[in-house]
Amino acid sequence: MARKKRQLLRVPELIVRKREGEKLGDQDIRDLVTGFMDGSVADYQMSALAMAVYFRGMDFEETVAMTLAMRDSGKVMSLDQIDAPKVDKHSTGGVGDKVSICLAPIVAACGVAVPMMSGRGLGHTGGTLDKLEAIPGFRVDLSVREFRAQLRKVGCALIGQTGDLAPADKRLYALRDVTGTVESIPLITSSILSKKLAEGIDALVLDVKVGRGAFMKTEADARELARCLVRVGTLAGKRVSALLTDMNAPIGYTIGNALETTEALGVLHGQGPDDLRELTYELAAEMLRVAEVTKSKSQALRRIEREVNGGAALQKMRAIVKAQGGDPRVVDAPDELAVARYRRTVTATADGYVTDIDPLELGYASMGLGAGRSRAEDVVDAGAGIRLHVQLGDPVRAGDELATLYASERGRLRGGADRVSASFRIGKRRPAVRSRIIATIRR
Ligand code: URA
Repeated sequence: MARKKRQLLRVPELIVRKREGEKLGDQDIRDLVTGFMDGSVADYQMSALAMAVYFRGMDFEETVAMTLAMRDSGKVMSLDQIDAPKVDKHSTGGVGDKVSICLAPIVAACGVAVPMMSGRGLGHTGGTLDKLEAIPGFRVDLSVREFRAQLRKVGCALIGQTGDLAPADKRLYALRDVTGTVESIPLITSSILSKKLAEGIDALVLDVKVGRGAFMKTEADARELARCLVRVGTLAGKRVSALLTDMNAPIGYTIGNALETTEALGVLHGQGPDDLRELTYELAAEMLRVAEVTKSKSQALRRIEREVNGGAALQKMRAIVKAQGGDPRVVDAPDELAVARYRRTVTATADGYVTDIDPLELGYASMGLGAGRSRAEDVVDAGAGIRLHVQLGDPVRAGDELATLYASERGRLRGGADRVSASFRIGKRRPAVRSRIIATIRR
């Protein structure tokens, strides 16, 4: 009790110290997070601290302390009974980012355990859980016991964040969201890593997206975030690396839950668009590297090709879907996933080349069609979304189809069509189309 009282008196002092740019100690940070969870640090005090961190930052040691204190605010899962190396992937979020759905079974087919905890869509970005739920019967709400058992049996499970992992992050994020303090690199780092470290993984690969459709708009900011995530994750005792990837155009040809799941399953059949396959294979190769199951990138890529072309990745996906209550026939007939009944097509108004496809506009258009959420409690329409018929650099003639919109309510199509149409630019010169991989950030 005396300790709690002493702590209470110290809170304003700690906020002032951070406001003045001083470094907080490990115990200071742990006391703040513990106090936040037991109610002795009020929401307004934690918000003030977040604002002080926003302006003054935190060094790596403080960020590690914040990450570990938030990790320890709830359960830290033990996956020690699983012999295989345990590796997860986290993306900072993009438009058309369905990579997890094909990546997880590929990596699991290569002998790595993949305990993947994902999120739901919010705002212009979609979420892996919503995409997986487009598969009839697929459950993402496994208990910790079921999650562990599936990991042991199948080598991969794809589920939602359980409420008892890093609860301090959930509460702090809710405050940051309404106090203008989301865009702080130490706070983003501790938020992402606290949840991932609580999963009981050995290693982690981060996909830090940069560009208009991403959280980080500039390469400099994305690089700084990636470096911070890698450094702090490493200091916390895990093997962590990051890929910096371009998010200035949507990934693949689809945006929306069932559409994206169909496209991701195509990669397991050896199909799928080049950019989606490249992104998936590069991230998978990095996961094999941090798992220490392959010695070089070329060896990792050969192994990945073998497991995809030989059907092992597909077989792994069938096992995952079956174990999580879904209909495994979907894996072999992904085109049969239901899409919404009302459709509208957007066409090119001039001859030329596709010089730009704005992912942010398309993300919001897809949300307006019913595929995403503006508030956490909104229900998503699995069949709504957008299918692109062209990609950056493709030649088009006036009247050619650029995209088809899908919605369950006809009224949603009109506004969506204007928005989708406005997201395309047609120019006379063919633009250079580069790889999505900008850099790999390692320790
Ligand atoms: N994603 C998270 O999980 N946390 C942040 O703070 C930002 C993005």
